[in-house]
Formats: sequence, C-alpha cells, structure tokens
Amino acid sequence: MPERKTVLVTGGSGFIGANLVRRLIQNYRVVNLDRLTYAANPLSLADLDTHPAYEFVHASIADRERVSALLTRTQPDAILHLAAESHVDRSIEDAEDFIQTNVVGTYVLLEAARGYWNNLPQGRKADFRFLHVSTDEVFGSLGANGYFSETTPYAPNSPYSASKASSDHFVRAYHHTHGLPTVITNCSNNYGPYQFPEKMIPLMILNAISGKTLPVYGQGTNVRDWIYVEDHCRALQLAFEKGIAGETYVFGADTEQVNLDLVHKICALLDEIAPVDENPLTRGRGLNTYAGLIRFVTDRPGHDQRYAIDSAKARRELGWSPREDFESGLRKTVEWYLSNPKWVAQASGGAYSEWMQKNYAWRAHKEAK
Ligand SMILES: NC(=O)c1ccc[n+]([C@@H]2O[C@H](COP(=O)([O-])OP(=O)(O)OC[C@H]3O[C@@H](n4cnc5c(N)ncnc54)[C@H](O)[C@@H]3O)[C@@H](O)[C@H]2O)c1
Repeated sequence: MPERKTVLVTGGSGFIGANLVRRLIQNYRVVNLDRLTYAANPLSLADLDTHPAYEFVHASIADRERVSALLTRTQPDAILHLAAESHVDRSIEDAEDFIQTNVVGTYVLLEAARGYWNNLPQGRKADFRFLHVSTDEVFGSLGANGYFSETTPYAPNSPYSASKASSDHFVRAYHHTHGLPTVITNCSNNYGPYQFPEKMIPLMILNAISGKTLPVYGQGTNVRDWIYVEDHCRALQLAFEKGIAGETYVFGADTEQVNLDLVHKICALLDEIAPVDENPLTRGRGLNTYAGLIRFVTDRPGHDQRYAIDSAKARRELGWSPREDFESGLRKTVEWYLSNPKWVAQASGGAYSEWMQKNYAWRAHKEAK
C-alpha cells in the first residue's frame, strides 16, 4: 500500500469536520485537532478511535506551543482549518469566544503553520496547502436577485460573520505577505448527519419529534441556499488537492429554500415517517400534522434576508458539482436523526439543553400565548 499523505484537520469533531474526517480517512492519515467545545460530539468519530490512520488530539488552535509541536511531530502535507465558533445566535449573545477562536485562534494557527512550512524541504513546501473553511455569510445579505461569487465584496453583518471575515483576511494576508500556500473556501448553509441540534434543520426535526414548538424567525421569509454536507466535503477535498495557492472558491448547491417552506418540508417528511397520532409525544394533542407546532418568534437581530451562491469557478476549475438532490438529502437527514438517538442524547445534554430552553423553547412558548 502506498504511504498515505497526512492532513491535519482542525475542528474534526464538529459537524462538517466529522463528515470530512470520515471522507479523508479513506485515503489519508488524518490528525484531528479539536478542543471539544459544546458543539463537538465525540460519538461522531468514536468508531475511528482504533483506526491505524486516525489520531485525535485534544487541544485548542489558540495554543501556539502545542500546535507547533503537533505540526513538527505529525508533518502534515495540508492543514484543513474548520475549528470555529459557528452559531450566529450565540455570537449575538456574546461575541468573545468568536473573537478568541475564529480570529485569534486562526492567527495563532497561521503563525504556527508559517513556522512549520518555512522549514519544509522545497518540494513539500510548494505542495503544502493551508485550507481555510469559511462561510458565504462574510458577503452579507442579498436582495431578491443576484448571487455571491469569489469577487463579491465583504460585508459581514453578524458578529459570527465578522469574525469569519476577519479570519479570511488574515489567511489572505499570510499568502500575500509570507507566501503561505493558502486556499479559502466560502460555502452556503450545510445540512446532513452529525449537525449539532441548535442549527435550524436538526432543531426542527428534533423539536417536532419531541412535540415541542417549531420556532420560525420573523415571518419565515429568509432564504438560504442549502448544500448537503457530503457535497461540501468533496468540494473541500478538491480545493486542497487541486486548488491554486492564494485562490478563493465559493460553493453552493443551487438549492434556495424559503425558511418557512423548509420547515413545512421537514414536517411533511415526519408526517410520513412518524405520524403524529403514532408518536406518544404528539398523540392526543389535537394535532393533524407536525406543522401545527410551528410558531413565529421575534426575528434574529440583523437577520440576513437571502444567501445564494454562484459556484461557476469551482465547477470550472475544480471539476466540482453537487450531487445530492435536496429532497433526497433532506429525507436522509431526517432519517439519520431519527435513527441515532444515542448521538442526539449526547448532543442534547447538559449546558446545551439549558441554553436551548432559555433561547428557543421558552421564547416560542411565551410568544405563542
Ligand atoms: N455549518 C455550516 O453551514 C457552515 C457553512 C459554511 C462554513 N462553515 C464553516 O465550517 C467550519 C465548521 O463548521 P461546523 O458547522 O462543522 O461547526 P461546528 O460548530 O459543528 O464545529 C466546530 C468544531 O470546532 C471545534 N473548536 C471550536 N473552537 C476550537 C478551538 N479553539 N480549537 C480547536 N477546536 C475548536 C469544536 O469543538 C467543534 O468540534 C466553521 O469554520 C464554519 O465557520 C460552516
């Protein structure tokens, strides 16, 4: 068997990271550096613990000494940087962790990567990649028309997107100033297995199945361009294997959905898979459909109206295109959450359930009265 190249994935125990690690472990030696914040779920990769090509390292990207020592010891051919605080609502409540991890942490990681990369032999130096996984939210909000592309000016609106924009700029600057071979990717909203239940799609699935209300911001008119996480992970692999140093690639799956329509689609799938009159948590409550649990709640402050992506460059230069159809991807996702109660229980316990109680359930309940 040919020797495997090594990739260091940061944030590999989170949603996209876990899906990416699962993909890369087929061909690479994977080192997963994760601080295991509330958003990580060790169960997502538990079956890889004994895999000979997988190593988990519990540390923060902001710990310069540990990151530098890790790079020297493991000698990665690429760093795929996903570690971040990623939930907009939390950044509105308190942006401190977002600045510490997304901005300061990315800077520390860049510095450690620069030191390591500078000492690589010529061939490996040219082939090395630092891939920064970012979001389309850095571009702000669209009106009814138009698309984000690689040339869209930055206009982040939330503290989360401002922190990601800042990290994008640092990554770009480390290429421009120091020659570090970086690639930046900006992707639209992901959905699929292993997503932490505070995010919209798992939140709606799990609230509905538990007979809790389904909180929809404002009038539910905001539009998101959804991409199945495996399509994103394939794009990320192509971006670090084939992407040109210094370039940016944006990814989206041409699947715009109005929030309220999306919630109705989830309800329709659940009505089919787990009908309300067969579910002990919804039976006998006068509901004909899970859609009866929908409640409109006060809009998120500064809520971006619409995101949509033109990924022509990625299609042309990386040979990438999304493969998952939205209806089948959503069905797979609903089925995954219903089939993995252990994972859900682990993700939904402790501090998260308190936060959830305070910010969603309580609000929806109160406003419904
Ligand atoms: N989810 C999306 O729709 C989406 C879309 C585009 C881009 N992104 C970007 O992709 C990346 C991954 O997103 P996600 O949804 O998987 O996030 P997530 O919140 O599910 O996971 C983040 C992971 O990072 C880890 N982490 C946080 N701080 C850390 C630190 N200081 N050191 C090491 N690890 C740390 C957490 O423990 C967790 O495992 C993020 O950078 C996010 O901005 C996400």
